[in-house]
Amino acid sequence: MCGIVGYIGKQKTVNILLDGLKELEYRGYDSAGVALLNQNKISVYKALGKLNNLEEKINTSNDNESYDLGIGHTRWATHGKPTELNAHPHLGEYSYVVHNGIIENYKELKDELISHGHKFVSQTDTEVIVHLFEYYQNSLNSCQEAFEKTVERLEGAYSILLISKACPENIFFFKHGSPLIVAHGMNEGEVLFASSDAPLIGLCKDVVYLEDECGGVASKEGIVFFDESQVQWGSLPSSKQFAQKEGYRFFMEKEIYEQSNVVSDTMLGRLQDQSITFDEFDASLIQGINEIKICACGTSYHAGITASYLFERLAKVKCSVEIASEFRYKEPLLTKDTLFIVISQSGETADTLEALKMAKKNGLKSIVVCNVDNSSMTRVADHSVLTRAGIEKGVASTKAFSTQVVVLWMMALYFAQQKKVLSQEAMHTELHALREVPSSLLVLDKVHEKTRRLSKRYLHGHGFFFIGRDVFFPLALEGALKLKEISYLHAEGYPAGEMKHGPIALADPELFTIALMPQHLLYDKIKSNVEELSARDSTICAISPLSFDLADDFIQTNVKDHYMLEFFEMLVVLQLLSMEISVRLGNDVDMPRNLAKSVTVE
Ligand code: M6R
Repeated sequence: MCGIVGYIGKQKTVNILLDGLKELEYRGYDSAGVALLNQNKISVYKALGKLNNLEEKINTSNDNESYDLGIGHTRWATHGKPTELNAHPHLGEYSYVVHNGIIENYKELKDELISHGHKFVSQTDTEVIVHLFEYYQNSLNSCQEAFEKTVERLEGAYSILLISKACPENIFFFKHGSPLIVAHGMNEGEVLFASSDAPLIGLCKDVVYLEDECGGVASKEGIVFFDESQVQWGSLPSSKQFAQKEGYRFFMEKEIYEQSNVVSDTMLGRLQDQSITFDEFDASLIQGINEIKICACGTSYHAGITASYLFERLAKVKCSVEIASEFRYKEPLLTKDTLFIVISQSGETADTLEALKMAKKNGLKSIVVCNVDNSSMTRVADHSVLTRAGIEKGVASTKAFSTQVVVLWMMALYFAQQKKVLSQEAMHTELHALREVPSSLLVLDKVHEKTRRLSKRYLHGHGFFFIGRDVFFPLALEGALKLKEISYLHAEGYPAGEMKHGPIALADPELFTIALMPQHLLYDKIKSNVEELSARDSTICAISPLSFDLADDFIQTNVKDHYMLEFFEMLVVLQLLSMEISVRLGNDVDMPRNLAKSVTVE
């Protein structure tokens, strides 16, 4: 959610901030803003919607002042509607703040500050930070003390940057729960901040990924931390990995097409001739482990459910899956014979990160399956297994999911291998199938064309049911989530065998059933389930290698010899179908409404 950036230095401050925000925009695009400061002047620009609105506003302002420092923000609204008034930076009388996260006790603080005469203009939680700072600054007359007292009073999760006319050479910063990085720039006296590393790559000498409760004050003289003991300087890759659309209409489309290639990277060095190896851990990991618990959100949660079938089926180990936001507050019973696996594309999802910390606190061994190295989760987990999908820009996850499933499938096989619970022949079949995954993820022209044509039939109706059994149930969940998030049509994923326990009551011609009918897993069972729906007049779109008479529409997949290969083929079909429906509806495929790429608030 939200992205924040800050800059002190001699380059054109506003350009550095806007470039940084461009890198973070996919994390939140309800509004954006910057505040710029020098000894004489403080200027703020805010605009609703995407970043180019802000850029346009700044360009037409003819502001030729040179600013010594500045802070910027791109917002995903939590408190208060997406309006210009609610856009960051928020201001008091003479100070500005940008904030990523949520201030949970903002109501109490706001009441208190109002009783001291402070006036609020926005509906956000963030505004209390800057008023609290000024409240203390007015009496203490020390920016640093005022800032330290401010952060002491804040509850919730936050990373903040604050500037003030009272100390025009400084940017104050603090991290508690949400990510923040501080860096020395390449030039003398340059300091940069960002809530993830992308805006900093190529601009910095060295960086600190701040730990929780770490804060300080920066100026062109350098960076002073409130507590040096938590500070560890490191470096970033020197060149930026740019994600470009490369001729595709959308990042999502490019990322769907890329899957076949990136899964080869995922398997590289891990899939051997006769076995699976992971450099990230060794056999001692599973010593004393009787159970696996997986925790994640959204698409990553669907990868987790898929993995639970594979861990139990292949590695013969008990496996349960939890939605991170539920897990955190259910007072779970955690035992040390449980291996805790979190799955996250970004490595920053607040609920998943907190679940991981909880498991660690309880002494569980932990692994994160993650796409972003150096993310918060990779720094907390005992072991990080990177999915190597490359930058995923589309808010709707595609290649993150396929690479997660491949990693988890390989992990299940690794455990099976160590526990010697699979016959040589079965292991051989699995390894052979893994090698075929890249070809199953290839986008075939005829399939893409079919989804394009079919998409026009599925633009209305009163809802979609995606149904499947076994691993095709989480795939159905994923298909439904893809459709919901970019088409804004109501869709549900359901276990096919469960429809008759209630949802079948909804069946009529305006109910669209997308049926996942693999040849190699419970075909006859799912066929009966689909027949039941067809008998009740639901419109059926069957996805299967085998033709199915009762289907109103049929997308034929290739005949494969392993159900997981059918899984990946069908995944591509579902991704394309939701994208084409979204295109026909005229939606923003890469930046769908109300969403953000990385959810760093709980
Ligand atoms: O970065 P994470 O994998 O932890 O993100 C979890 C979910 O927010 C994410 O998968 C979300 O559901 C996607 N937009 C789905 O396409």
